[in-house]
Amino acid sequence: MPSIVVIGSVNLDLVATVARLPAPGETVTGAELSRFPGGKGANQALAAKRLGADVTLLACVGEDAAGEEALEMLRDEGVELGDCRFSEDAPTGTALIAVAPSGENHIVVAPGANRQLTPESLRLPDVDALICQLEVPTETIAAAAATFQGFFAVNLAPAMHVDVAVLQRADLVVVNESEAAWYGDSLSACTGMIATTFGAAGAVLTKNGEDLARAKPPRIEPVDTTAAGDTFTAALTVAFVEGQAPEQALEFACAAGAAAATKLGAQPSLPTREDVMELIGAD
Ligand code: RIB
Repeated sequence: MPSIVVIGSVNLDLVATVARLPAPGETVTGAELSRFPGGKGANQALAAKRLGADVTLLACVGEDAAGEEALEMLRDEGVELGDCRFSEDAPTGTALIAVAPSGENHIVVAPGANRQLTPESLRLPDVDALICQLEVPTETIAAAAATFQGFFAVNLAPAMHVDVAVLQRADLVVVNESEAAWYGDSLSACTGMIATTFGAAGAVLTKNGEDLARAKPPRIEPVDTTAAGDTFTAALTVAFVEGQAPEQALEFACAAGAAAATKLGAQPSLPTREDVMELIGAD
């Protein structure tokens, strides 16, 4: 069983399903409101767990009811949370998400306690892989990348400046199309693999500018694409730690991401390995 530590965000997602996404300055009414546990770090941790890994999450939530609600699914499903922090003065992170019938979304995050996941006294367990994203302070990611010895995957989401040493150290960088455009030439600092996702059009895996693999997801009816990228990142990391070849690993990750887009909400939509294999088999 692969062992993975995830350093990242925990949010409570407030999700409005709406007939269409509003334009800037526009009000769209008639939405239905739901709440789901989310946050890129928490989603990636639970996705890896459901895909069969042994997972520890290092995160920071507020000492509030939202924090308990946001951690509940992780706790129930056996993600190790013993080293998570609880802030006395910042609320649990909140994401405001609007989802259109096409599955497309708009997300605004108020990070709250996620900002307090600073590098001081962060204890990294001795595991096969580390997964990070950028919803917690980037100096925490840089400090972890500098000391971790195993397979290091970083999902550069949301796009923001990161220390070049993080890009140089990463065995795997994951970006979507718009993040790839935002980083542009700075991604040439990466010495490991880069996986770029293109939604329903699939993903490309490269290393030093050369293609290693290309894959397309199985055809699905999208309901909500929230956490599809998180699931892709977790699945690709699990696959590489298991020793899968690039083609097979990318196909697995694309199918896992697609599976996550078939249900509403972040964590309720994360697939098990059986779900992913069934989707690959049905294609
Ligand atoms: O990647 C999806 C996640 O982004 C949501 O769960 C939301 O919390 C935001 O962090």
